[in-house]
Amino acid sequence: MTTPSSPAFDDAAQQAAAKRNLWLHFTRMGSYADSDVPVIVRGEGQYVYDNHGKRYLDGLAGLFVSQIGHGRKEVAEAAARQGSELAYFPLWSYANPRAIELGQRLADLAPGDLNRVWFTTSGSEAVESAWKLAKQYFKAIGQPARYKVLSRYIAYHGTSMGALAITGLPGIKEPFEPLPPGGVRVPNTNFYRAPAFVADDLTAFGVWAADEIEQAIIREGPESVAAVFLEPVQNSGGCFPPPPGYFQRVREICDRYGVLLVSDEVICAFGRLGYYFGSERYGYLPDVITFAKGVTSGYSPLGGMLASDRLMEPFAEGSATFLHGITFGGHPVSCAVALANLDVFEKEDLLGNVRANEAGFRATLEKLLDLPIVGDVRGAGYFYGIELVKDKATRETFDDDESERLLRGFLSHALFDAGLICRADDRGDPVIQLSPPLTCTQEHFDEMEQILRSVLTQAWSRL
Ligand SMILES: Cc1ncc(COP(=O)(O)O)c(C=O)c1O
Repeated sequence: MTTPSSPAFDDAAQQAAAKRNLWLHFTRMGSYADSDVPVIVRGEGQYVYDNHGKRYLDGLAGLFVSQIGHGRKEVAEAAARQGSELAYFPLWSYANPRAIELGQRLADLAPGDLNRVWFTTSGSEAVESAWKLAKQYFKAIGQPARYKVLSRYIAYHGTSMGALAITGLPGIKEPFEPLPPGGVRVPNTNFYRAPAFVADDLTAFGVWAADEIEQAIIREGPESVAAVFLEPVQNSGGCFPPPPGYFQRVREICDRYGVLLVSDEVICAFGRLGYYFGSERYGYLPDVITFAKGVTSGYSPLGGMLASDRLMEPFAEGSATFLHGITFGGHPVSCAVALANLDVFEKEDLLGNVRANEAGFRATLEKLLDLPIVGDVRGAGYFYGIELVKDKATRETFDDDESERLLRGFLSHALFDAGLICRADDRGDPVIQLSPPLTCTQEHFDEMEQILRSVLTQAWSRL
């Protein structure tokens, strides 16, 4: 029998097996009926290589994950060492040395009194855990009616049922309705498409967007609202940074009504914005930070939440227990990998690299604004969205049909074929998202800009 590791497992057999047995996430499997499934076989630094040896600049860090870049032997070796010492033991009633060390290191890095670490394996589980903690916490302190969660329009917070109830993308929720009750939507901070009465004043727009959170809390009944989930920079929709003062005002509102502020930093933590945590960059102190992705740079899966000491108090004594657990949460190999990953951050001053180069990244991407199809370039750190428009003057966007032809029919493939991994997304208005490894420098920004310029120019001529 031919197996994937046997020499006879050639390209054709690999393609047949991929198409017959593998189910790709958020992917139209039918789109591979007449074309190959792309197979990425190895990575090195800022680049990955496919099964034909072709090189691609990884402009998305895999999926907002590979902060330190690919092929780091020292991190892989940390996994191997831990695997031979203690590959697995649960965090259910036991600790393991790497989880203890990582917990302490994350608490030291985290802002304020976010000292309690709850490990998961993914971002969805982290979000799910934060909601469960909020619900059980409020029951424990005598406010049992608080269960609702506010989050922003078209924000992505994960796909498990609870996390999906917080996610604000109607298209990916609809097949799974009814979802757990309590998800409430509030406006996001898309200034490019701000309401007319605040469209010329970023600060006023931020005040309006924050006050809409207060209005939603009042409308829902403050006694029923448990938490607000916000990303420091909202990814979905194409990188919406917070207006000045936005988070400070949201913090005040949350305090006024006794609502928890959860900073969902599954993307924005671990250097993406030039800081260990996005909340640090924008100067606010959340009650919980959720994280995943960059904590290990993807060398092994890990996620979690950092909760304030206050939230732990009702669980600290007597028979009180947070009734939640995940078999692989705090997996020793993943914790060893996270520690080695953070060592690379320190040794190579990756936060410093992002801070020193982010202005260059922005300026390089902003060159694309001379193209008729590029309406807006926005983001922070190494995290950018480029919004595509049909008419720059009016900011008119594409209709569903055009968007389908442009993004799925052309851009995604053309960018990949041209050697750039990024994401063409139309879950809000059509955008191209970039989130490269934190090791990137000007030469990589230039390469991204050149590929984007050429492919976007072709896209415009095909419209
Ligand atoms: C902000 C945010 N929260 C949660 C998640 C879900 O993480 P995961 O895919 O690891 O479950 C994501 C994933 O991209 C995310 O961007």
